[in-house]
This record gives sequence, structure tokens and C-alpha cells, in this order.
Amino acid sequence: MHSFVRDERLRFQQALASSPLTAFSELMLACFDGGWHETLQHGDFPRWQAAFHTASQFQASSTDIAADRVRIGSAADITDINSDSPSLTESLLLCHPWRKGPFDFFGTHIDTEWRSDIKWNRIRPHLAPLAGQSILDIGCGSGYHLWRMAADQPARVIGIDPMALFSMQFAIFKQHLTDVPAYFLPVGIERMPAQMQCFDSVFSMGVLYHRHSPIDHLRQLHQLLKSKGQLILETLILQGPTDACLIPQGRYAKMRNVWFIPSVSLMQTCLKRCGFENIRCVDVSPTTSQEQRSTSWMYFESLSDFLDPHDPGKTIEGHPAPVRATFIATTK
Ligand SMILES: C[S@@+](CC[C@H](N)C(=O)[O-])C[C@H]1O[C@@H](n2cnc3c(N)ncnc32)[C@H](O)[C@@H]1O
Repeated sequence: MHSFVRDERLRFQQALASSPLTAFSELMLACFDGGWHETLQHGDFPRWQAAFHTASQFQASSTDIAADRVRIGSAADITDINSDSPSLTESLLLCHPWRKGPFDFFGTHIDTEWRSDIKWNRIRPHLAPLAGQSILDIGCGSGYHLWRMAADQPARVIGIDPMALFSMQFAIFKQHLTDVPAYFLPVGIERMPAQMQCFDSVFSMGVLYHRHSPIDHLRQLHQLLKSKGQLILETLILQGPTDACLIPQGRYAKMRNVWFIPSVSLMQTCLKRCGFENIRCVDVSPTTSQEQRSTSWMYFESLSDFLDPHDPGKTIEGHPAPVRATFIATTK
């Protein structure tokens, strides 16, 4: 694992050199070093490392990052099976919970809690072409969407997420996709350099409602983008025509850390006040149990446990059930 991080750092450093991000190379590498140091020090790291080690033993004859189920190798690539070894499924489950996917890893279907392909297929038709771009995905989870973005041939795509487990899930795939210019920084947005103004596209999906200060989050997104860059913001919204917003008194759908659920029109006002232009709401979709559910790869509670059993239009606390909207906007 340590050699993977060392080699990945070198690849990341080379990706930053002579790119529009080059002025921030040192600061970005400091994020990389600090974030990966924390992952390697994490109390669960030895367990995750065992999964990484098993996953490193196979050679993928082919990969497909454009597929809804991102695929590395096939079952036929696994030869030389030692009957005393844990199965691939058992090893990968050392990295439970698998939340964002789905993946096919050497013939093993990682049926994640979220069908993140459904979100991607909702959003992708509305994007300005990603080819040749520098992209930042904030709160990228396992990195599932990084692979889907990378399939559109950007120059580079960087994901950030402070959850150490997700950096390990990403690493399990990246070790088989070292030629793909997708990189993971295990840090939160608050650790990103200020005023970068260099990304062509910034994605913030499923993050805004977790931020204590949503306006500050929007302002930070603005500062990450270059002029005429595109923001893709996906967040929970409150349905209705007015400039309303829900700030839950306590939990929302059992989550403690939900701070801000605006109506579509209020979200558009916030984006405008933060300097964005060409603001479009391109999709509004209720979250269904087709998209979010418990599986054998995420066996904790999921959406059906968060809704009122007598009224699926409400959360267990009596709030409107989750509806998500996607906004696309540009900088001046
Ligand atoms: C609801 S998930 C969304 C994942 C993915 N973007 C998607 O839309 O499927 C929110 C993600 O944001 C991450 N996150 C939490 N705090 C963050 C922060 N301060 N900066 C960046 N990401 C954060 C979480 O670890 C989690 O992976």
C-alpha cells in the first residue's frame, strides 16, 4: 500500500506539472500527503490494507470505466486460486460499507448502497463536454463518479473526500487503472487552497446540505472555478414554489448533519448572489429505493428505514421525503 501511495503521488505530481493547476502543485501535494498520511494512520487501515493486498494480486485483461457498472477485469482473470485464501468477496467486504457504485471487480458484483449510475445518467446529458478539462469532484465518496467522468476524456479529474475508507476503496480500483488521470485527495473542501480559480468544472453532489454554512460553500465553489467554468451542484431540495428552506430542528432521515434544504427558487437565488450566471435547474428527482437501499455490500440501514412506514412521502421525523435537484451554472 505504501508503494502505491508513493507511485500515485508521483503520477499526481506529473499530472499537475505544466497544467493550469501548476501554480498550486505544492499546496495540492501537501493535501495529498496530509490526507494519505491520515488514511495510513487510521485504526481500520490494517483491515483495509488486507483488501487492497488481495485485490492487487490479479491482472485485469480489460477494464470498462464507461459502463454503468464500472468494471475491472473478469472472473476469467483469476487463476491460481488457493482454497485456504479468503474469497474476493470476503476480502472486499473488509472495506464495508460500500456506498457508491456499482462495480464489477474481477467478476464480483459490488452491489453498493447507492446506484450512483442513476444519478450520473440523470446529470451527464446536461454537462458541457468534459473532454480536455480539469475537473474537481467534491465529496467524491469511493470515486465512482471520477471513473465515469474520466471516461469522457478530461485532462485530469481530482476527487476529494475526508473519509479515509473511501480513499482505500478508490485505491483498490486505481491500482488497476494507473493510466487513467483520476486522483484522490483524502481531504475535505476546507483543506483546499483558497482562490484557485483554475478548474473547468467543479462538481458538488450530495455535499451542500451537510455544510453548516451553505453560502460559504457556494462562494468556495465559485473560487475554485476559472472564468466561464461550470458548476454542477446536486443537493436535497424542498418542493414548492416559494423561497422557502428547511433547517431541521433535529435529524433529517436519521442524519444528524443536515443543515439546509432550500426550495429550487431559493437555491437559484443563493447561486446568483454568489456570483453564478446561466443558472439552470436541470433535474428534480425523488430518491427511491431503487437508487438507495441496503445490500449485502452495505448492510446498515438505508432509505426504507429512514421513511415513515405509513407515509413514504415523509421521513421518519415527519419532514418531506428526500428529493434531489441538480443545478448547472457558470462563472463570469
Ligand atoms: C452524500 S455523499 C455524496 C457522494 C457523491 N458525491 C454522490 O453524489 O454520490 C457526501 C460525501 O461528502 C463527503 N464529505 C463530507 N464532508 C466533506 C467535506 N468537508 N469536504 C468534502 N467532502 C465531504 C462525505 O464523506 C461523502 O462521501
